[in-house]
Amino acid sequence: MIGKSLTVAALLSLNLVSAGPIVKRSVLTDLQTVYSEVQSLDSDITSWNGQLLTALPLLTDVDTLETDIKTATTDTNNSAAFGDADSASIASETQSLSTLIVTTLDDLVAQASKVAAVGLTSTVESSLEDLKTLSDGLISALESKIEASYLPTATSIAAAIDSAFATAIAAYA
Ligand SMILES: *[C@@H]1O[C@H](CO)[C@@H](O)[C@H](O)[C@H]1NC(C)=O
Repeated sequence: MIGKSLTVAALLSLNLVSAGPIVKRSVLTDLQTVYSEVQSLDSDITSWNGQLLTALPLLTDVDTLETDIKTATTDTNNSAAFGDADSASIASETQSLSTLIVTTLDDLVAQASKVAAVGLTSTVESSLEDLKTLSDGLISALESKIEASYLPTATSIAAAIDSAFATAIAAYA
């Protein structure tokens, strides 16, 4: 009897131990997934040869990225408030992600005349508008869960991303 309830208690406590961090760890994993997708997008942008056919995989990259930004936002919304360690790792991942986003948008701006030559300017503009809205949603979700001491970092990250999107959207308007 005692042995059995100890086993149950042990199982329950194992369950409790693993139930807490899972959601928060998945937000970090989600951000890492988004990071690696922006990396592929950037490498596809910089290596693009200006042909319409080879632009198609880029549109697929954008679709995948949009889906995964939404997943990261949903998981953040569903997560409990981030504790100290999670806030630190999530803030640091978001910082790296924003640096990469700024680089990627710069690289995209550099391709604007080639994009115009194949008639995809307005397609890119509308993708940029969508990605900006989704990124803003993700940042607000993260801001609502992160510890208050990280809010200034989050605000400056959001400003850097917004300004890079504004420049890129202007180049494709
Ligand atoms: C996350 O929560 C915010 C604030 O409640 C809401 O506006 C947004 O639509 C939610 N996003 C997702 C993808 O669930």
